[in-house]
Amino acid sequence: MLASGSGTNLQALLDTPEVRPHVVLVVSDRPDARALERAAAHDVPTATVLWSDHDDRDSFSASVADAVEDSGAKGVVLAGFMRVLGPSFVARFPNRILNIHPSLLPAFPGGRAVEAALRHGVAVSGVTVHIVDEGVDTGPIVAQVPVPVEPDDTVETLHARIQLEEHRIYPEAVTALVQGRIEVVDRKVVVR
Ligand code: GRF
Repeated sequence: MLASGSGTNLQALLDTPEVRPHVVLVVSDRPDARALERAAAHDVPTATVLWSDHDDRDSFSASVADAVEDSGAKGVVLAGFMRVLGPSFVARFPNRILNIHPSLLPAFPGGRAVEAALRHGVAVSGVTVHIVDEGVDTGPIVAQVPVPVEPDDTVETLHARIQLEEHRIYPEAVTALVQGRIEVVDRKVVVR
């Protein structure tokens, strides 16, 4: 699992009995990430790969991929990982990388998605779990849940309601991943 920030999704995954035994490593690009503390509290090994130790995205991505492979992990779960990994990373784990994104993709990909949805005045936003491909938030969709926008919503209040849904659907999707129930056929996801 890769995480850069507070790690509430990571926590939800570590608290899921079907998932926890499969979590062999948590990698962060930030040594101070709260996610690393959450992993340590669950006796999950951790590693930090610093962007500043690398010349470019490719070499950073290769270091993260090496750490993942050395751990024996067969798949990768992005849980608030704030760096874009290069195509070489994606190629090493084809259809075996999941990400969670706080909008109904393909609307509002990339950073600050909650802010962008509010600025756009959408009536409904939501959360998407998808397989990571070479693009940014463009991969095949595994699961989506809509979250209605309230008239007085701020980025914080809307993101908080989106996160409630994230903590519900990510454990379901990652359970399907570790149980080998996710397949991609013609760019469409089939969960068995
Ligand atoms: C989540 O909102 C997720 O959708 C996005 O990054 C955020 C991570 O939050 N990719 P947390 O660190 O899991 O609390």
